[in-house]
Amino acid sequence: MNLLDALNWRYAVREFADTTLDEEVVSELVEATRLSPSAYGLQPYKLIVIHSDSIKTKLLDYAMGQSKVKHCSHLLVFAVNTTINEQFIAQHFAYFERERSLENGALAGYQQHVKDVMLPLTTEQLQQWAENQAYIALGNLLTSAAIRRVDTCPMAGFEKQGFDKVLGLAKHGLKSTVICALGERADSDVSAAERKVRLSIDSFSMEL
Ligand SMILES: Cc1cc2nc3c(=O)[nH]c(=O)nc-3n(C[C@H](O)[C@H](O)[C@H](O)COP(=O)(O)O)c2cc1C
Repeated sequence: MNLLDALNWRYAVREFADTTLDEEVVSELVEATRLSPSAYGLQPYKLIVIHSDSIKTKLLDYAMGQSKVKHCSHLLVFAVNTTINEQFIAQHFAYFERERSLENGALAGYQQHVKDVMLPLTTEQLQQWAENQAYIALGNLLTSAAIRRVDTCPMAGFEKQGFDKVLGLAKHGLKSTVICALGERADSDVSAAERKVRLSIDSFSMEL
C-alpha cells in the first residue's frame, strides 16, 4: 500500500473488534515509535504497552466513557518525564557518548548548550515541551500503524490523574499525556465509511 492510500485508509476507530494483534506486529510498532525524533534527542517520555484485560478494565473508570480503552487489542500510553533537570540531561549525554563510542565529556559543549536552553524553563514549560515531543512519536505511531494496516485511535479524552494512579506512574517520575488504542476495526464501526474531513489543499497550505 502506498503512503497516501495508507493515510486515507486510517481513521480514528470508534469501535474495535475483540481481536488481538500479534505481539510481533505490536513490537514493530513500538520500535517505529522508539525511532521517533525528539529535540536534542532527549526522548523525554516513555511508552507503556498494556495488553492486560484487568489493567484495561481499571483504566476504563478514567476513560471518560471511551470503552475502546478496554476493547482494543493493546492500549499504548505516552507518559512524559516529570523531572527534566541537570541530571536527566547529564544521563542522556553519558548514554549518547557510550552509544557513539565517544570519550567521556566529548559532548560537553553541546551538553552545556542544552542545559542553557532547558534549565531556565519553568516546570510547566518543560512539561509542555516534553508533551510536544511525545506527540511527534504519536504521529509516527499512527502513520506506521496505517502502513502496517493496524487500526488506531489516539485519545486525549481521559483522566490523566486516574491513569497515573492505576499505572503507578509517579514512582517512575512519569505522567500520562496521550494514549492510543491499537487493534482491528469492528465490522459494525460506521465511522469506517465516513468521508474524511480535512481542510482543502488551498486552505491548508500556501506557497510563498
Ligand atoms: C491528539 C488527539 C486526541 C484525540 N482524542 C480523541 C479522543 O479522546 N476520542 C476519540 O474518539 N477520538 C480522538 N481523536 C481522534 C480525532 O477526533 C480524529 O483524529 C479527527 O476527528 C480526524 O478524524 P480521522 O482521524 O478519523 O481522520 C484524537 C486525535 C488526536 C490527534
